Amino acid sequence: MLTTATGIVSVLFLSPGAWGEAQPQKVALTSRSITSYSSSSWLKRRGLSPTNVPLQDFFKGTDLQWYGNISVGTPPQVLPVVFDTGSTTLEFASTQCGQPCTNQIQFDTTKSSSFVAGVVNTSLVFGTGGGVDPVVGSNYKITIQSGKDTVEIGGLKADNVDLFLITNQSEPFAIDPYSGIQGMGATAQGLFAALVSQGLPALFGLYITPQSVGGAELTLGGVDNSKFSGNLTYAALPPRSGSTWQLSSPSIAVNGNTTSVLTANRTIIFDSGSSNLFFPKATTEARRIYLDISDIQPNTNEPGAYGIACDRVSSLPAVIDFAFTAQDGSLFNLTVPSSELSVGPFANDPSTCQLLINALEEASIVGGSLFKHYYTAWDIGGQQIGFASLSAKAPAPSSSPHSSGQALRSNWIPLSVVTLLISVVTLL
Ligand SMILES: *[C@@H]1O[C@H](CO)[C@@H](O)[C@H](O)[C@H]1NC(C)=O
Ligand SMILES: *[C@@H]1O[C@H](CO)[C@@H](O)[C@H](O)[C@H]1NC(C)=O
Ligand SMILES: *[C@@H]1O[C@H](CO)[C@@H](O)[C@H](O)[C@H]1NC(C)=O
Ligand SMILES: *[C@@H]1O[C@H](CO)[C@@H](O)[C@H](O)[C@H]1NC(C)=O
Ligand SMILES: *[C@@H]1O[C@H](CO)[C@@H](O)[C@H](O)[C@H]1NC(C)=O
Ligand SMILES: *[C@@H]1O[C@H](CO)[C@@H](O)[C@H](O)[C@H]1NC(C)=O
Ligand SMILES: *[C@@H]1O[C@H](CO)[C@@H](O)[C@H](O)[C@H]1NC(C)=O
Repeated sequence: MLTTATGIVSVLFLSPGAWGEAQPQKVALTSRSITSYSSSSWLKRRGLSPTNVPLQDFFKGTDLQWYGNISVGTPPQVLPVVFDTGSTTLEFASTQCGQPCTNQIQFDTTKSSSFVAGVVNTSLVFGTGGGVDPVVGSNYKITIQSGKDTVEIGGLKADNVDLFLITNQSEPFAIDPYSGIQGMGATAQGLFAALVSQGLPALFGLYITPQSVGGAELTLGGVDNSKFSGNLTYAALPPRSGSTWQLSSPSIAVNGNTTSVLTANRTIIFDSGSSNLFFPKATTEARRIYLDISDIQPNTNEPGAYGIACDRVSSLPAVIDFAFTAQDGSLFNLTVPSSELSVGPFANDPSTCQLLINALEEASIVGGSLFKHYYTAWDIGGQQIGFASLSAKAPAPSSSPHSSGQALRSNWIPLSVVTLLISVVTLL
């Protein structure tokens, strides 16, 4: 989930350390499995052992986002949140939101003895709501208030974690089955920084699965070896990536074929809070890719969206290979299979299916539709992302039932700490 933000540099200089950015630490890759941590006395001395958090799929005609429980406050109140690699902060519905948050579990600050209210009141507008439920003006907006409280996740606990209460939200958020968002950006902040300072290794693993498979899981402080086979292939984040998980890609191929437009170097953002793929509208990439698949046309009613008759989708080959450079210099592909092409019928035109790729943002973004097909390791300490094939025990995702139900994609583009920092500075 991303929001567009400007003015990052001056803001970061104005407010150094206020957000408690943890210093990345190097951790040996070979000892990063759940199994080796739990069986090693050396590792126990580190303070915290890796932990698994079960995740649930928000499915609405297609797989959208993956969320799991955290507990906030004293005594703890359980709140489901999306784990979003595209943002860095924690925010969730509070009882101050009331009616607009009726469908969400709301945190009640008056029932927590450890809650401390902050001084920041601000709002965030999401740049993309995406898919068949388009962003129009500022229809994806939350109002938030800062605070601190004790947060617990997967049995790990941290005190005085910076967070935001959602005090109002616009209507499109009403359907969300979760209360908020836990940012999982490439710098450890808030909850994750606190856990790392207690000795948790600065990495996490994501096993996100289609609804038909289930059993999705976040591993904090390690990776879950039982979910993948072979070794993880790691690729390094470019220098100065900040909190953005991103990798350089020298080429994209569609159905095994590429073109000069698709062989330009580009930086691709890895955002678990988005389900669609995005390519900048300033360039022709989305259009080019669709022409390589078939005679697919933009949907003139929904900026950035493309569609084709639903009865044609299943017959279209649409294998998209993204090439990346591994730490050893070799190239490897991450592949989005044809089964991901359709995200379901448009609300205003049910015979036409919306397709996976949007031309909307000034950035290239991959999300859940790609991550479902790999085990992913997000290594903050080593500033790299690892990918492995899913293990046979963990069934490979099959095609989701894309053809029924109205798809409603929550392709928000993050809620970056930058936006929040700007707001803080503006307000103070
Ligand atoms: C979150 O906790 C609730 C109980 O408070 C439980 O019903 C639900 O299944 C949990 N969700 C996940 C994803 O573990
Ligand atoms: C922030 O907004 C809340 C209402 O949502 C209000 O109670 C509080 O006083 C405000 N704080 C500041 C510092 O303006
Ligand atoms: C809450 O947000 C909605 C939609 O943005 C807005 O119309 C409404 O006035 C807001 N309510 C409050 C109390 O600010
Ligand atoms: C994984 O890496 C180890 C150590 O580098 C190597 O010995 C092993 O052959 C690799 N396994 C696979 C399946 O590539
Ligand atoms: C990546 O995919 C492209 C297009 O299908 C193919 O030409 C290339 O050989 C693949 N690269 C690797 C390393 O598998
Ligand atoms: C690959 O792309 C080129 C240039 O657009 C086109 O001429 C060629 O037919 C394509 N090949 C396949 C197999 O689609
Ligand atoms: C793409 O980027 C790589 C690494 O920065 C560089 O070596 C390569 O020359 C670039 N290729 C093009 C076509 O710009």
